[in-house]
Amino acid sequence: MKKAGSATDVLWFKDAIIYELHVRAFQDSNGDGVGDFPGLISRLDYLQDLGVTCLWLLPFFPSPLRDDGYDIANYVDVNPVYGTLADFKAFLDEAHKRGMQVLIELVINHTSDQHPWFQAARNAPSGSPLRDFYVWSQDNQRYRDVPIIFKDTEKSNWAWDEVAGAYYWHRFFSHQPDLNFDNEAVMEEVLKAMRFWLDMGVDALRMDAIPYLYERDGTRCESLPETHAAIKRIRAAIDADYTNRIILAEANQWPSDVRPYFGDGDECHMAFHFPLMPRIYMALRQEDRLPITDIMAQTPPIPDNCQWALFLRNHDELTLEMVTDDERDYMYYAYSADPKMRINVGIRRRLAPLVDNNRRRIELLNSLIFSFPGTPIVYYGDEIGMGDNIYLGDRNGVRTPMHWNPDRNAGFSTAVPERLYFPVVMDPIYGYQAVNVETQLSDQSSLLHWTRNMIALRKLFQVFGRGTLEFLSPTNRKVLAYLRRYTLLDGHIETVLCVANLSRFAQPALLDLAQFAGCVPVEMLGYVPFPPISQQLYAVTLTPYSFFWLELQPAPEAPQPPASLSDEEAAELARHPGDTEVQVPLTPDAPDTAQRSDLTRKTER
Ligand code: NOJ
Repeated sequence: MKKAGSATDVLWFKDAIIYELHVRAFQDSNGDGVGDFPGLISRLDYLQDLGVTCLWLLPFFPSPLRDDGYDIANYVDVNPVYGTLADFKAFLDEAHKRGMQVLIELVINHTSDQHPWFQAARNAPSGSPLRDFYVWSQDNQRYRDVPIIFKDTEKSNWAWDEVAGAYYWHRFFSHQPDLNFDNEAVMEEVLKAMRFWLDMGVDALRMDAIPYLYERDGTRCESLPETHAAIKRIRAAIDADYTNRIILAEANQWPSDVRPYFGDGDECHMAFHFPLMPRIYMALRQEDRLPITDIMAQTPPIPDNCQWALFLRNHDELTLEMVTDDERDYMYYAYSADPKMRINVGIRRRLAPLVDNNRRRIELLNSLIFSFPGTPIVYYGDEIGMGDNIYLGDRNGVRTPMHWNPDRNAGFSTAVPERLYFPVVMDPIYGYQAVNVETQLSDQSSLLHWTRNMIALRKLFQVFGRGTLEFLSPTNRKVLAYLRRYTLLDGHIETVLCVANLSRFAQPALLDLAQFAGCVPVEMLGYVPFPPISQQLYAVTLTPYSFFWLELQPAPEAPQPPASLSDEEAAELARHPGDTEVQVPLTPDAPDTAQRSDLTRKTER
């Protein structure tokens, strides 16, 4: 008997809205200055209300925390500072009760050097099975062409271990030795750890740093056939014993190089689209759609049961590995005026400061990841436009406590402020007194309300998570226009036209929509019918950084209004023939989406 996951649809991840958070940063329940699972449980209602459907938790396992928990010292327990296994289980159950899936980290490329496996390995005789858990060498010359990822910290991928009297291999920090997947015992331990969490009911696993599992002479030690065989084995183990569980690949590579991580639909269910992300920022700054259309043209089709994961920001630097040298220079120039904003090959800033706290730009960028083919991921705090702290080391400036209210420590903790794991952001623009959940909940025009509406709207249309993508080519390259299409199970075809103005000035565009002649575009946030489409080019005018999502609805058959209808009712019927569930905006003059917290209306079917 397979163990059921909490989701009921095998493709649940395609319709998901993922919210990425660190338990450490979310809510401290015991006043020790560090977030914990009881605290997180107390904030689940907020997340449910926001509308996100899947919670991605950054690593919460026992760890010396020298890489924010990606340096794991025990795969099958909870770091006591965040709570107990029972607390995690309680969190999992509470999330499931609210209809949210849970995604956790499976960091199998490396462990902490404090992991008992490494301690045993360095003390075990050379060549013994225990020593063999990691990758050792008597010299540091092997695999010399392999790039260094944390180049600001590390000078080599080899580190000398005094106890073992040998070098060990590490793709990340030197305190994170790489596991040796040529040793069958390693794979067995990994599968054991994986089953531990899946048995408990975890729905999804993010496969951290997955391209680097194997090393071979004469290669870049990335994406080797052995690595794909290992992933297939992991996937087969999941499919054999569990239902509706998924794995998400973290492979920071070009789309054509990521494609093999989906296999024939028998490797990872999802993979991050790394190269799209910096190009969204580039397109915005250059006011030109080309970076986006270009990278999407280079994105190969993926199997039907697979999905891209789309994001604007996450817990790491805004990585610039997947851009050309010129593009990287441009991104540094455009988005990191202060050298302190740079780290490794990227920029360590949050979404709001990256776009100069410009609300329209924030909305525009979100509209793109919410309407592109894939599953969008919201990084905690970005839904309220939190700022960062570039004076903290490493990537910690984007990992500060969540802002809940204007009280002490932003409502995150009752500890004395000095005791917090990181200080809360306090500057006048992004500080917690200005930017916090409580204030934004009481402000109907806040970014938080806007985000909630966008999430609600997206969830009404499967086309966003599942449909096809076709770009239109209006001559004005400041305008990005694309069609999303999807045929629902009942045969209804959802067709959505998205139009985005990447410019800081108003822009016109003429769209070739002749194939939809007769259809009526209905603006989806306000449910406002636009002029019908004809054989002529369709004219749209966009204010700076604005976007439209327009559902293309078939031409209404002109109904004869019964004599008893008032003029207003008759006009409404003419606009929405056959639609029995249209609700008028809550207040007569309130097409403003922020006024409507529940977008429950259904479109015509
Ligand atoms: C990728 C994670 O996103 C990053 O935060 C971490 O430092 C490296 N993997 C190493 O585990």
